[in-house]
Amino acid sequence: DWVMGDYIAEAVENIRKQVGDEEVILGLSGGVDSSVAAALIHRAIGDQLTCVFVDHGLLRLNEGDMVMEMFARNLGVKVIRVDAKDTFMSKLAGVADPEAKRKIIGKEFVEIFQTESGKIKNAKWLAQGTIYPDVIESAGKGKKGAHTIKSHHNVGGLPEDMHLKLLEPLRELFKDEVRELGVALGLPREMVYRHPFPGPGLGVRILGEVKAEFASLLQRADAIFIEELRSTIDEASHKSWYDLTSQAFAVFLPVKSVGVMGDGRTYEYVVALRAVQTQDFMTAHWAHLPHDLLGKVSNRIINEVRGINRVVYDISGKPPATIEWE
Ligand code: XMP
Repeated sequence: DWVMGDYIAEAVENIRKQVGDEEVILGLSGGVDSSVAAALIHRAIGDQLTCVFVDHGLLRLNEGDMVMEMFARNLGVKVIRVDAKDTFMSKLAGVADPEAKRKIIGKEFVEIFQTESGKIKNAKWLAQGTIYPDVIESAGKGKKGAHTIKSHHNVGGLPEDMHLKLLEPLRELFKDEVRELGVALGLPREMVYRHPFPGPGLGVRILGEVKAEFASLLQRADAIFIEELRSTIDEASHKSWYDLTSQAFAVFLPVKSVGVMGDGRTYEYVVALRAVQTQDFMTAHWAHLPHDLLGKVSNRIINEVRGINRVVYDISGKPPATIEWE
């Protein structure tokens, strides 16, 4: 609309003034904030922007290809895709503790990003999708020195030794404004209105040690869950169950249980489904999903994902449970 058009024109003008003819790099994660920042900066300075997309192998199913499709192909943004799956998997081998996993993923991510962006010789700016709530949150942390319940690696930025100036065009925006801006810039609505996804990705949704095999099982189970949530419409509200929930995902449990398949006995892994409704993610209720929907998801996962023979539904609120299992 008119107001958003105006906003974009002004933001574009500001970015051009700030950056001049210098080069900018941006770490694309596939998340809403970095995506909208990339689209906006690309609108302003085109090929002076290079995005680095570090694929840690712990993203949703086909996410890496989707990011490339959306940015490189559709929007014509320069994106360097770094396939770092093997590196992350080997760094995570043998590590079961959730915070240790977060630290490894965060550290590795920054290192790879620095190495790759260091190859872009003339870069003077580092762009980030920092939004207003991030600014508030990190200010609070600095003051109180608050203890972290979970370390969020994508909040707080990259180390200062990159010697780059920071470009943060979304710093004054709230999440809903960022989403509207994304749509106005031509990003697909489903992408912009997606549920949040944690920086460490499936690394904290595979309980205990992360293995490539587990990630593959989980990605497929999760994709089935999300697909069914998107396609099941609640009759009362005419909304999909995806839109009626704030966050929904599958969790891989590295325990085996017995099942039957045909004449045979199976002994395979368990997947838990988690779906919550919340305003602020500080407290959350488990979503009362229709039993038919849950039944269909369970059948599909067990039939389509060989290696999973049992599906359970998480009915814990936050608090005392957290939204993620790790
Ligand atoms: P919890 O599990 O603490 O999650 O109830 C609250 C929200 O934060 C997200 N979350 C993370 N996001 N890095 C992130 O970027 C993390 O390490 C992380 N841990 C949790 C979670 O997905 C939920 O939206």
